[in-house]
Amino acid sequence: MSPSPQASLHTARLLLRPIVASDQRRIHEGLSDPRVNAHTGIAYASYEDTARQMRWYAELQASGTGLWWAVCLSQRPDELIGAIGLTQLVAEHRRAEVGYWLMPDCWGQGLAGEALAALLAHAYGPLGLHRVAAEVDVDNPRSSALLDRLGFRHEGVRRGYEWKDGRPIDLAVYARLASD
Ligand SMILES: CC(C)(COP(=O)(O)OP(=O)(O)OC[C@H]1O[C@@H](n2cnc3c(N)ncnc32)[C@H](O)[C@@H]1OP(=O)(O)O)[C@@H](O)C(=O)NCCC(=O)NCCS
Repeated sequence: MSPSPQASLHTARLLLRPIVASDQRRIHEGLSDPRVNAHTGIAYASYEDTARQMRWYAELQASGTGLWWAVCLSQRPDELIGAIGLTQLVAEHRRAEVGYWLMPDCWGQGLAGEALAALLAHAYGPLGLHRVAAEVDVDNPRSSALLDRLGFRHEGVRRGYEWKDGRPIDLAVYARLASD
């Protein structure tokens, strides 16, 4: 179950390719948008600060504990419109967690669903995973709807699991198994 070298994934409208250094500008733009970071828990004050996110992607891959892709429209492979990937990958137990975000002008077109379907096929196929989970702020209906559409099962709620903006956040746990 080696995540390297990282394959590019193709869908009807999208290319999911490895994240490269020149993506930092668009990643900063996305993750500093309040509509995106309202539920991701990731926000960067400056472009330079986003270098931490770039290092995090590289470290996940180097340690084998995760793998992220730049999401691009097939016709514009250099312009990142979002990112999707795996974290908390535990090879021994064939499980990982999925994360994703898209630039808000790309919401409402089924693009996140298309990217997630491709990622799941890769996760259960070449990566050999059995369980892909997601933890979602209970007040993030777009993300929950996406997981429902992709056949994830709601397993429960971690109450008061994160502290954000001075108040506790409940996280819904979803998962889909290769055998589902
Ligand atoms: C979560 C997120 C990726 C979902 O994006 P999205 O565009 O709503 O998700 P989908 O790709 O499933 O698109 C579904 C919408 O596209 C519409 N759609 C249009 N064409 C479609 C098509 N060809 N196929 C499927 N759906 C289509 C659906 O009707 C649905 O519309 P609705 O939002 O009005 O109900 C996005 O809201 C986001 O980036 N949020 C911020 C980051 C975040 O919260 N990440 C998750 C943390 S857990």
